[in-house]
Amino acid sequence: MKGRTALVTGAGAGMGKATALAFAREGADVVAADIDETAGKNTVDEIEFLGARAEFVKVDVADSGQIHDMVDATISSFGRLDFAVNNAAIAPDRLRIVDVDEAEFARMLTVNLTSVLLCMRFQIRAMLDADRGGSIVNIGSVRSLRALAGSPGYTATKHAVVGLSNTAALEYASDGIRVNTVCPGPIDTPMLRQARARRGETAESDTKTRTPLGRLGTADEVARTSLWLCSDAASFVTGQTIAVDGGFLTP
Ligand SMILES: NC(=O)c1ccc[n+]([C@@H]2O[C@H](COP(=O)([O-])OP(=O)(O)OC[C@H]3O[C@@H](n4cnc5c(N)ncnc54)[C@H](O)[C@@H]3O)[C@@H](O)[C@H]2O)c1
Repeated sequence: MKGRTALVTGAGAGMGKATALAFAREGADVVAADIDETAGKNTVDEIEFLGARAEFVKVDVADSGQIHDMVDATISSFGRLDFAVNNAAIAPDRLRIVDVDEAEFARMLTVNLTSVLLCMRFQIRAMLDADRGGSIVNIGSVRSLRALAGSPGYTATKHAVVGLSNTAALEYASDGIRVNTVCPGPIDTPMLRQARARRGETAESDTKTRTPLGRLGTADEVARTSLWLCSDAASFVTGQTIAVDGGFLTP
């Protein structure tokens, strides 16, 4: 991936951070975007320590103008955009439908869904302008494919991410732009640890029971799938929804 540029949102922690580092190890220049400046800059420091090039861009993916500026900053820093992983999202809500808080639901739509539309809008425009194609991975969830009772906002937005990805895949296939969705199962990240603490669960009960493989996934295992989808090894793969879930969704 030397000479090519990857943009990762939510790159300050968890899977976004692992993904940014994975692109850097493959030689790509990386834009690490996050709402958390300290965390995002730490990721950049770790990438530079590997000897690769990276820039931090502060972004709130709930803000269209900031998403536009993030893509502009990518082109200004490295001259091109080849790969994008739209990963930033907020965690499951814990209210049933009759109790849903409208403001919380609207926030989830903005951060988890509209952001994916807007990220793709500006990323695809940049890719079309350069006329070199590209590859986009949007991060869904096993909740893109199987609902979670008590989590209507998260389930609905993650289902819709698949619809958006597939629409983009069809619209821009003839321009050489591939778009796929990666659906993680339970992965050991700050998001999962915070959700577990809210539910009063222990690491033990969590780890043993949640996947057929008998463990949580690592952020790196998801990063490697996104990396593969962006690589030339996946050059004929578009419009696909790929679970990285330790067998969680196995029928
Ligand atoms: N952890 C899991 O078990 C799991 C399972 C399925 C899907 N996912 C999905 O994987 C993706 C990454 O999850 P994670 O567990 O690594 O999350 P995380 O909470 O550990 O890290 C998310 C990162 O995104 C950033 N972020 C949050 N809101 C943002 C915003 N508005 N603008 C920009 N950056 C923002 C945070 O600062 C943080 O650095 C998310 O889309 C999540 O829904 C996670």
